[in-house]
Amino acid sequence: MKTLLITGGAGFIGSHVVRLFVTKYPEYHIVNLDVLTYAGNLENLRDIEKLPNYTFVKGDITDEVLVPELFAKYQFDGVIHLAAESHVDRSITDPFAFVRTNVFGTTNLLNAAKNAWKDNMKGKLFYHVSTDEVYGSLGDTGFFTEETAYDPRSPYSAAKASSDHFVRAYYHTYGLPIVISNCSNNYGSHQFPEKLIPLAIHNIKNNKPIPIYGKGENVRDWLWVNDHAQAIDVIYHNGKNGETYNIGGHNEWTNIDLIRMLCKIMDKKLGRQPGESAKLITFVKDRAGHDLRYAIDPTKLSEELGWNPSLQFEEGLEKTVTWYLDNQEWMDHVTSGQYQSYYQKQYVER
Ligand code: NAD
Ligand code: TYD
Repeated sequence: MKTLLITGGAGFIGSHVVRLFVTKYPEYHIVNLDVLTYAGNLENLRDIEKLPNYTFVKGDITDEVLVPELFAKYQFDGVIHLAAESHVDRSITDPFAFVRTNVFGTTNLLNAAKNAWKDNMKGKLFYHVSTDEVYGSLGDTGFFTEETAYDPRSPYSAAKASSDHFVRAYYHTYGLPIVISNCSNNYGSHQFPEKLIPLAIHNIKNNKPIPIYGKGENVRDWLWVNDHAQAIDVIYHNGKNGETYNIGGHNEWTNIDLIRMLCKIMDKKLGRQPGESAKLITFVKDRAGHDLRYAIDPTKLSEELGWNPSLQFEEGLEKTVTWYLDNQEWMDHVTSGQYQSYYQKQYVER
C-alpha cells in the first residue's frame, strides 16, 4: 500500500485527480488536504468519499505545524500538489492571497517533504501541478515548449512561476525528487463559475449578459479536465525525476468564437431559437494586463510518455453543458452567498 498526499483535491481539477486515483488504484491510500476556500467543495467528491482508501483532511498548506504532522502521521510516499489560488481576476484585486498560498504554501509542503524524506528519497516524488501562464503571452504564432523562458505577467502567474522555481530549487539544492507539469486552460464538470466557460453557461441559462473582456480576441488552448487528470496519472508514474512536461491538446480558440459555439449548444439544449443565446454576448472593459494568447506544444509528453488527449472540443463542451444543466443544485450551492458579492464587484460595479 502506498500513501499519497493530494492537495487541493476539493477543487475543480483536484477532485477529478482524486476520483481517478482513488478508483483506479485501490492499493493507494489517498489523503486529500484542502482548506475549502470558496473554490473547494466537498460535494465534488460525494461519489467517492466513503471509499476505504480515501481520507479528507481540512487544513491549510501554509500551516507550518499541521503539514509536517501529516507527513509524520501518514508517511507519504508521494505528493500531488494542486492547492492554489487559481483565478487571474482575483489575483488582480488581492495579490497577497496568491503569494501566501501559491508561494509560501508550496514551499511549506516542499520543506515538509524534504525533512520527512531526507534519510531515504528513493521511491518518493513531489509532483507540482502548474500552468502554462508562467510562460507569459504569445503573439499570433509559436507555442510554449518546456524550454520557453518564464515571463509571468499577472499576479497569479507570477506566484505560480515562483512556486515552480521553488520546486526546482528543492530538486537542485536538496535532491528532492520532483516533476512539474504546465497545463493549458481546463474545462469540464465541477469548475467554479468565476471561470469563463461555467460562468457563460450559468448566465446563458439565466438570460443574463455574457461578459466578454475587450474584443474577445484573446486565444486560449482548452483541454478537457479528465484528459488533464489522465496526463497527471501518466506523469506521476512514468515522468522522469527533475523533468517538466507541458500538457495541452492543440485546441486554440478565440474567446468570442468559443462563446459563439457555446451559445449554439445552449440554444439546442434549452430548446431556444438559433441565435437567441448569442444575443446575450456583451463586450465589457478588458482585464488589466490581459495575456493575448496561450498555446502549448505537447510533443515531449506525447512522444516520451505516450499521452494524447481523448476528446474533441465540441464533444467535450457538449458533455460539459449537459453536466451543468443536470446539476443545477451544485450550481445553486456554489453561487449562493459569497459568489453574489464577488459577481457584483467584478462585473457590475467595475
Ligand atoms: P480551484 O481554484 O478550482 O481549486 C483550488 C483548490 O485548492 C480548492 O479546493 C481550494 O479550497 C484549495 N486551496 C486553496 N488554497 C488552499 C490552501 N491555502 N490550503 C489548502 N487548500 C487550498 O483550482 P483548479 O482550477 O482546480 O486548479 C488546480 C491547480 O491546477 C492549481 O495549482 C492551478 O494553478 C493549476 N492549473 C489550473 C488550470 C485551469 O485551467 N484551471 C490550468 C493549469 C493548471
Ligand atoms: P479564465 O477562465 O479566467 O482563464 P485564464 O484567465 O486563466 O485564461 O478566462 C479565459 C479567457 O476568457 C481569458 O482570456 C479571459 C476571458 N474572460 C472573459 O472574456 N470574460 C469573463 O467573464 C472571464 C471570467 C474570462
